[in-house]
Amino acid sequence: MKTLIKNGNIVTAVDNYVGDILIDDETISLIGRRLDVQADRVIDASDKLVIPGGIDPHTHMELPFGGTFASDDFRTGTIAAAHGGTTTIIDFAVQYKGESLAQALDHWHRKAEGKPAIDYSFHLIITDLPDERLPEFKRVIHDDGVTSFKPFMAYPGAFLVDDGTIFKALSAAGEAGGLVCMHAENGIVINEMIKRALAEGKTAPKYHALTRPTKAEAEGTARAIAIAEMAGAPVYIVHLSCHDALLKVKEARDMGLPAYAETCPQYLFLDYTRYEQEGFEGAKYVMTPPLREKWHQDELWKGLRMDDLQVVSTDHCPFCFKEQKELGKDDFSKIPNGGPGVEHRLSLIYNGGVAGGRISLNRFVELVSTAPAKLFGLFPKKGTIAVGSDADIVIFDPKAEMTISAGTHHMNVDYNAYEGMRVKGVTETVLSRGKVIIDNGEYRGTPGEGRFLKRSTFGWKSW
Ligand code: URP
Ligand code: ZN
Ligand code: ZN
Repeated sequence: MKTLIKNGNIVTAVDNYVGDILIDDETISLIGRRLDVQADRVIDASDKLVIPGGIDPHTHMELPFGGTFASDDFRTGTIAAAHGGTTTIIDFAVQYKGESLAQALDHWHRKAEGKPAIDYSFHLIITDLPDERLPEFKRVIHDDGVTSFKPFMAYPGAFLVDDGTIFKALSAAGEAGGLVCMHAENGIVINEMIKRALAEGKTAPKYHALTRPTKAEAEGTARAIAIAEMAGAPVYIVHLSCHDALLKVKEARDMGLPAYAETCPQYLFLDYTRYEQEGFEGAKYVMTPPLREKWHQDELWKGLRMDDLQVVSTDHCPFCFKEQKELGKDDFSKIPNGGPGVEHRLSLIYNGGVAGGRISLNRFVELVSTAPAKLFGLFPKKGTIAVGSDADIVIFDPKAEMTISAGTHHMNVDYNAYEGMRVKGVTETVLSRGKVIIDNGEYRGTPGEGRFLKRSTFGWKSW
């Protein structure tokens, strides 16, 4: 099967030109100007951007949290992702206490089986690391292609692990070419602040934010970087939300340390005032880290521009407002943490970033596709438009506008955090390994055709 995409404005992290792309089955086979070739299908991309499929390296499909499960599974969540121009996700598999790393991966493979509409991979959440388990890192990195891990400094009693465990994970992963993704917050201090707030009768959603100050995130970030330095390993800070934490990453990078970080659209577009809304509305924004005061947003955009932040992921972890968020009606600490986002990342970042004059078109592609592909061992198969790369391609209309709404989104959740927001820049058509899965906004794929991706090691020393 040959597909020809004609006359598009092809944009990668470094290019911007008008051209044609010939796809042979799953792969890009030729790129040129006015290609005179036969194809089974021709797509006219005149006046459209043709960009590499988005890579969202931070999702939680069906994550167990606070007595419930994130409401998107690998079918609904990946169809929603595809609608928004994301063609690869990296989801977080959970290692339960007592499980080997291989058992944890097995469990997540079974969860995903037959469901993903797009290609996918796993990071591994580490909760239990006796010394005899350390050799398993080499096996999962080299044999299973799972090359990244997430220990948590937060959520005591659930995911939190101590600094010794974090040091061991960083050492074992780093030595085998893996990358540790850190949830960096001082969860022990936060836990005391939560107990104190509840004892004072402070139960409303806003206390979720007020008991998780930016200092707790900055302290966790600095500690994660220091432990990584002691372990001689790189570290990637996930869902960075505030200026205080960004300064710690910037300082480390200025010193030449291999410290990397992502932020997410919620921290670029939403702010603390959401928690001050009437009644229980604020529960929709109970996520960790919480939304911050608005002034942090400019600093995060600056971080994205200056490469102190390398990636925009979503941390997609939706819970329905009715029934799920309501578990914390009388106690904010029982509201399941997380929010929806996998569907609108490209439109939000294009609108706020490129149309908003904050970042270039090339930087946009780099943040949502190329940099995650490089950091997580998928480049150049994914994350760019080049001969030999997978034909994961998004035809994106930079002039079209849409209003984000739960009434029209495809995520399996009963609200949208960006409800009513008008954005410029809409995903029109999406190809996943050469197959059109979104055709002018309509899903034409088959759940289950997404493929598990074994990833390469993280070659930061040769960058
Ligand atoms: O609130 C969030 N972020 N929920 C998902 C779990 C995590 O910490 O990433
Ligand atoms: Zn986290
Ligand atoms: Zn997360």
